[in-house]
Amino acid sequence: MVRQELVARQLDEQIAGRYPVGQRLRVLDVGMGQGTQALRLARLGHRVTGLEQDATMIAAARAALSGEPEGIRERMRIIEGDGRDTGVHFLPGSFDIVLCHGVLMYVEEPDPLLAGLARVLAPGGLLSLLVRNGDALALRPGLSGDWAGAQAAFDTVSYRNRLGLEVRADRLDALTATLAGIGAPLQSWYGVRVFTDLAVDGAEIPADVETLLAAEERAGRTDPYRRIAALLHLCGVRG
Ligand SMILES: C[S@@+](CC[C@H](N)C(=O)[O-])C[C@H]1O[C@@H](n2cnc3c(N)ncnc32)[C@H](O)[C@@H]1O
Repeated sequence: MVRQELVARQLDEQIAGRYPVGQRLRVLDVGMGQGTQALRLARLGHRVTGLEQDATMIAAARAALSGEPEGIRERMRIIEGDGRDTGVHFLPGSFDIVLCHGVLMYVEEPDPLLAGLARVLAPGGLLSLLVRNGDALALRPGLSGDWAGAQAAFDTVSYRNRLGLEVRADRLDALTATLAGIGAPLQSWYGVRVFTDLAVDGAEIPADVETLLAAEERAGRTDPYRRIAALLHLCGVRG
């Protein structure tokens, strides 16, 4: 919940700073999962395409969409496919915003996927990436008292996620260089989940959730806190 809410606020800030109020944007959400952000943006009036490879996730997204009014259903398109194949599905420059949130962890060679995302962005378009922060991997084991795990985490960008999968994180400097190389240089970045990374899955939402979100939001845009966030939200802009 913290992740989705913070990313939503950060994304809305980026959109507001870039486009006139009310402009209907063409959005692509790669690896949209059950479509939390995709659906939210469709509700705001944008035209959203979700590209997702997992049939179960697609079914969940379709089920969520089916409960929406017709106008929103018409604005959202769901495509089953691999995020590495955007060149198969879309023409260059066909989107104003491309989201790729929580996906790079699962992609062994992210550069071709990222280049494909930049290619489908229109000039001036926004590329929004949410990645695991590879510069702060020691924090979770360290704060949990797993000293050996913390030591090991300094020298790698691999980690075991909460599903038990061995996946990969991204370092800010490396991704900044990649974004420059694919013609969508980094314009802004935020930390996501500075204080709440140790919260257990399914934890009850506390009564003071608004205060929690305000603290997370502030930390996510303030050095040095944002540098040790569990996730980084990077915003590149297509030149
Ligand atoms: C952690 S979920 C994130 C979902 C959503 N973007 C969000 O932020 O809530 C990662 C999603 O990416 C999808 N995914 C991973 N690799 C993919 C790929 N190469 N192409 C398309 N989808 C992919 C998974 O199936 C999963 O639904």
